[in-house]
Amino acid sequence: MTIIVTGGAGFIGGNYIHYHIKEHPEDRVVCIDKLTYAGNLCTLAPVMDNPNFRFVKLDICDREGVRSLFGEEKPDVVINFAAESHVDRSIEDPGIFLQTNIIGTASMMDACRAFGNVRYHQVSTDEVYGDLPLDRPDLFFTEETPIHTSSPYSSSKAGADLLVMAYYRTYGLPVTISRCSNNYGPYQFPEKLIPLMIANCLNDRPLPVYGEG
Ligand SMILES: NC(=O)c1ccc[n+]([C@@H]2O[C@H](COP(=O)([O-])OP(=O)(O)OC[C@H]3O[C@@H](n4cnc5c(N)ncnc54)[C@H](O)[C@@H]3O)[C@@H](O)[C@H]2O)c1
Repeated sequence: MTIIVTGGAGFIGGNYIHYHIKEHPEDRVVCIDKLTYAGNLCTLAPVMDNPNFRFVKLDICDREGVRSLFGEEKPDVVINFAAESHVDRSIEDPGIFLQTNIIGTASMMDACRAFGNVRYHQVSTDEVYGDLPLDRPDLFFTEETPIHTSSPYSSSKAGADLLVMAYYRTYGLPVTISRCSNNYGPYQFPEKLIPLMIANCLNDRPLPVYGEG
């Protein structure tokens, strides 16, 4: 099968591509990435020469480019990891979050529709549920938990999720959504909590905590 993975030069998408190619070497994996500040092609260096892998520098909002790639590759599955993903940046400048996270999601799903209802997976976040009180460890999120976003980032991801569900309901597009909690590991951009804390500790710098002065 042929799978299009967006945002594969980023942290989770890159790890996913390595996993997929290792576990399913017979599949063709095509990565679309705009290579924003968060994308790093070095992440994909180990697979660049693999004949079953192709990298395309492309913005998921570029409808013409996306459709042309769908025409060439005829994907069976699309996994959309591409996003603006940093909460602090979304507070500084929400516009690009709405553009990539919502309009980009629509662009990818419209291409899926145009090419025979290609199976679509949306990578979302548990941040769409807001947060739980620190003194109630008995509480947890479920699929029935109401959406309660706290930042332009989480609102843009929730908006995209609603659009994904609407494409299922309206057009019958075969979709799934996953809402994972925070990840950490290799290839993570050092603006995120764990690499940031480690880097600041190593450099004897203050450790930023939300809600503190
Ligand atoms: N990191 C986490 O802990 C976490 C937790 C929950 C959900 N998520 C979700 O997982 C996904 C991946 O997160 P990540 O931490 O790997 O993000 P990341 O910021 O490390 O990577 C995002 C990638 O998307 C690319 N990209 C951005 N805008 C694009 C566009 N318009 N077109 C094409 N490519 C574009 C970037 O160049 C980058 O390579 C995101 O959808 C995010 O919301 C992440």
